[in-house]
Amino acid sequence: MRNTNCVIRYREYDSLEELEPKDRALTEAAIEAQKTSYAPYSQFNVGAAVRLEDGTVVKGSNQENAASPAGLCAERTAMFAASAQHPGLAMESIAIAGGHRYTITEQPVSPCGSCRQVMSQYQRKSGVPMSIILYGTDNIKVFDRVEDILPFIFDSLETKK
Ligand code: THU
Repeated sequence: MRNTNCVIRYREYDSLEELEPKDRALTEAAIEAQKTSYAPYSQFNVGAAVRLEDGTVVKGSNQENAASPAGLCAERTAMFAASAQHPGLAMESIAIAGGHRYTITEQPVSPCGSCRQVMSQYQRKSGVPMSIILYGTDNIKVFDRVEDILPFIFDSLETKK
């Protein structure tokens, strides 16, 4: 038996101005994307924006439905749109921002497990690390790769080796 640790690495920032320009622009795109959120049930509006390796930015927002499992989070809406429209381009970064009734939370919104799983697969597909920017008005967290937000990932491609 061995006791071991798993270290999660991320950077924290106090404001958008501290981010490097392309990450700041991506975060602003996520905030902008929140405007298209359709969340009549939860009233929790989330925006996400994916930057592709050629610099293209693809936005998404959460879309709810009366049959609740039919709805989708902002992150997956953005990633699926990016993959559907630009299938050959790696997703190098995703930014997320949200809050109740089109406000933005002070602490960052953290992606659900299913969205992390989808991030992991697109990162695996491209072979390029996908960074994750979680925006809150008082705190911003940046993870350099999906493993840092989803350790011990299930990877069916790995199990086939
Ligand atoms: N939601 C997202 O879109 N992204 C997150 O990271 C957290 C949750 C959505 C799903 C649902 O429409 C609403 O927020 C409340 O859970």
